[in-house]
Formats: sequence, C-alpha cells, structure tokens
Amino acid sequence: MSPLRLQGRRAVVSGGSRGVGRAVCLAYLREGATVVATARSATHLDGLRRDAEALPGVLAGTLAMDLADPESVRAAAAGARALLGRVDIVVNNAAVLGPRGPLTATPFGDLRSALAVNVAGPVELVAALADALSDGAVIINVTSGAAGRARWGAYGLTKAALNIATDMLAEDLAERRVRCVAINPGPVRTEMRHAAYPDEDPATVRHPRSIVEPFVAIAAGAPVEGVLEASEWTR
Ligand SMILES: NC(=O)c1ccc[n+]([C@@H]2O[C@H](COP(=O)([O-])OP(=O)(O)OC[C@H]3O[C@@H](n4cnc5c(N)ncnc54)[C@H](OP(=O)(O)O)[C@@H]3O)[C@@H](O)[C@H]2O)c1
Repeated sequence: MSPLRLQGRRAVVSGGSRGVGRAVCLAYLREGATVVATARSATHLDGLRRDAEALPGVLAGTLAMDLADPESVRAAAAGARALLGRVDIVVNNAAVLGPRGPLTATPFGDLRSALAVNVAGPVELVAALADALSDGAVIINVTSGAAGRARWGAYGLTKAALNIATDMLAEDLAERRVRCVAINPGPVRTEMRHAAYPDEDPATVRHPRSIVEPFVAIAAGAPVEGVLEASEWTR
C-alpha cells in the first residue's frame, strides 16, 4: 500500500459542505490529513462529518464561518488554531457566484458582497491564520476560468482579484517559505455550476472528486506557483 501523502499535515478548508470544497476535504482525509472544515453553518457539515468517519485522516472540527463577516472569519480562524495548533494548508474554496451580466449593470450591493466573500474574506482568513502557518505551508485559492471575463459581473472581477491576491500573498509570505497557488477546477458538477448553466445536463460535467489530485499533490509539496488549471494537471 502506498504511504498516505498528507499524514501529519493540518488543513483548513473553507466551503467544505458541498461541491469542490467537500471533495477536497474528503481527498485530504483519504490521504491522512487532519482537517478543519468550514461553512456558513456547522450543521451544513454534518454529512462531511459522517463520511469522514471511514477515512484514515481526522476531521478535527467543523466550524461556522461567513466570509462576508470579518468577525466571523476571525472567530473561525481562532477556532481552527485552537483545534490544529499549527496550520500547513489553507484552501480558500468557498465563494459566491452572484448575478452575471455587465459590470455596469451589477448592483452595488452584489458587487460589494461578492468582493467580501470571494476576496476580502479569504485574505482575512490568511491574515488571521498567518501566525500559525508552518514553515513551508501552502495557501490554495480556488479561482475560475471566468476571472476577468466580461459579462460575468462581480464574479469575474472577484476571481481576477483573487488571482492577483495569490501573487501578492506569495510575496508577502515568501520569507516564511509559504507558497501560494490558485487552482481553477474547471467545469465541475456542483450547485454553483448548475446556477451558472441551468440548461446543462449535469451528467456531462465532471464530478468534483475527479479534480482533487492537484489539491492533494500541491498540499503534499509539489513545487507549483501561480494559476493552475486542474484539467491540465498531469504530474
Ligand atoms: N463548479 C464549477 O464549475 C467551478 C468552476 C470554476 C471555479 N469554481 C470555484 O470552485 C469553488 C467552489 O465552488 P462550488 O462549485 O463547489 O460551489 P458551491 O457548490 O456553490 O459551494 C460553495 C461553498 O461555499 C460556501 N459558501 C457560500 N457562501 C459562503 C459565505 N458567505 N461564507 C462562507 N462560505 C460560503 C458554501 O457553504 P454553505 O452554503 O454550506 O455555507 C459551499 O460550501 C468556488 O471558489 C468557485 O468559484 C467552481
């Protein structure tokens, strides 16, 4: 049997209740990691808690965190630090899609809430965990092919900003040898995908479990930088 690649590694994953985040949590637990998962309500994570029981890793905690609320982010970070001590992996996965359309037609409130959840919240989470990050820790920001894409409204803007934040954090944390990577999962069969493409047959879109390999390999130490397409992962 091959050794577990994330044995002894401690991860915080946002948006672990469904979709990509849940698949990443399960992949990390399959590889022996200790994981703290978040969602807006801890009860959303009951299903993950049940599935985790059969896996070799440890789901150390499920925490409520609303990325739109900095107090909630800081409280969740404090909770994760209390549960994990040091943190080796942060996956900023949770996000909102919001209404699509031209930026000029995007209501200010939608713009502000998407920027909070998709950009300011993830940066705040890293800031609140910074002192606990281990030497050689990795931050994985989940981005999108829609980054900077016209007529994707606030979502396109926020994912472009998250890509830039990834590079800025990499420089900010370079002295600590913390790596920062953005992964675009590509089209994945989730609630968000269905909201974006309601007429699409979900059976034609990949299941989240099929895109987790780069999340595992990078968490395990693969030397990757910048923005990465999960579909092009060949290592
Ligand atoms: N699916 C795709 O095809 C696709 C393509 C490219 C990129 N992505 C990216 O992949 C990531 C995951 O997307 P997904 O498709 O898995 O989406 P999803 O099914 O809608 O799941 C979103 C997750 O984010 C959490 N969340 C939503 N609002 C939140 C908030 N205000 N604070 C904290 N957590 C919040 C949700 O948890 P609760 O609702 O339980 O709180 C849920 O766990 C996102 O960053 C998305 O942009 C997805």
